[in-house]
Amino acid sequence: MDKIIFRMDTVLSDVHLLLPNARHLMTRLNADGQPVFVSRFRILWDVEEKELGCSGFSPERTEDGRPSGATEVPLDDDGDLDVVRRPRDASPDRERVCPTILNQALGDSADGCEEDEDGEDATHRDVIRIEHTMATPLEDVGKQIWRGAFLLADFILSRPAEFEGATVLELGAGTGLTSVVMATQAKMVYCTDVGQDLLSMCERNVTLNQHLTEAKVSEVRVRQLDWTGDDFCTDAEKPFSWTEEEVAELHNETSVIMAADVCYDDDLTDAFFRTLYRISSNLRNPSTVYVSIEKRLNFTLREMDVACEAYNHFRHCLDELCDMDDGKMEYRVEQVLSPIPQFLQYERVEQLEVWKITANQKITHKCLTASVS
Ligand SMILES: C[S@@+](CC[C@H](N)C(=O)[O-])C[C@H]1O[C@@H](n2cnc3c(N)ncnc32)[C@H](O)[C@@H]1O
Repeated sequence: MDKIIFRMDTVLSDVHLLLPNARHLMTRLNADGQPVFVSRFRILWDVEEKELGCSGFSPERTEDGRPSGATEVPLDDDGDLDVVRRPRDASPDRERVCPTILNQALGDSADGCEEDEDGEDATHRDVIRIEHTMATPLEDVGKQIWRGAFLLADFILSRPAEFEGATVLELGAGTGLTSVVMATQAKMVYCTDVGQDLLSMCERNVTLNQHLTEAKVSEVRVRQLDWTGDDFCTDAEKPFSWTEEEVAELHNETSVIMAADVCYDDDLTDAFFRTLYRISSNLRNPSTVYVSIEKRLNFTLREMDVACEAYNHFRHCLDELCDMDDGKMEYRVEQVLSPIPQFLQYERVEQLEVWKITANQKITHKCLTASVS
């Protein structure tokens, strides 16, 4: 294959944009005829915060959450966005956080070689290997890695005590990178998404990264969970379906739900929030939900201006969750504003955010009376 053909709805993640020498990275074609790559990412366990560009991520913010000192968007005489380009070599700091694929696997398969062509040990405890595709149509975006997955992975690595021994559910896991990182801390990770092809890729990534959790008793189970359905698929004939025991364990044990970059289409975002409500309200214990999102700015015909519609809809859904009064659940929503150290190398743009939702059963009058008497 000489070149990638872009369709109208082809999207390419910024994470993959700067793949060096891309020809060498392709390992095979998947069942849909899409080129498959294996990329390596290094966890920088020991690098100090100041080295990692935290400051670029969490600028001082005003009360309404905007970076303080943020200026109005510059417009030209016609009202078009006036983009000021960064001079090529003006910001040496930025190079440090550029999306960097640290190595490349040649002819590597999921269960393949443990040493790459440069002789580096690919099963070292700080190396994550992820199989993915690039430049997919919109319905296959899960086969690429998105910056939100890295941000959530950074968040997990920065708070090991919070996730130690937890049972975690990931929604819309895509390649599974965040679940793989969560497994370095948690006891059980249910890593979910839709589509057999994607889930198979995700499962291969879990296998590829078992070396990260060798010292721990932890497990990642890849399962189908479609937000547009209204239940767990327990049909044993179907791949990636759930057993009744797993569904029960999920409801009894889960205390953390997470999702990276899943709110980019309003209908899907609605389905995602419905699923979040359905699952969190059926958990035995209170839960904490972490959602990462990238505030993408696009020119829209509806607004005739630059807008971030998907982000605005996400915020609207958060507000609705907060205001919900079903007599049963109580949700609290806050943006994580404290700096998140960067353990993985990618471009930590300031449009990346993590939101925290705490879900609690309401203490009803009846319960209170019962506990007092
Ligand atoms: C932009 S990708 C993010 C993937 C991954 N979390 C990451 O950040 O790299 C959005 C993910 O949502 C998943 N998704 C879309 N519709 C879904 C649905 N109805 N049920 C479950 N997952 C869905 C996609 O398959 C995809 O993996």
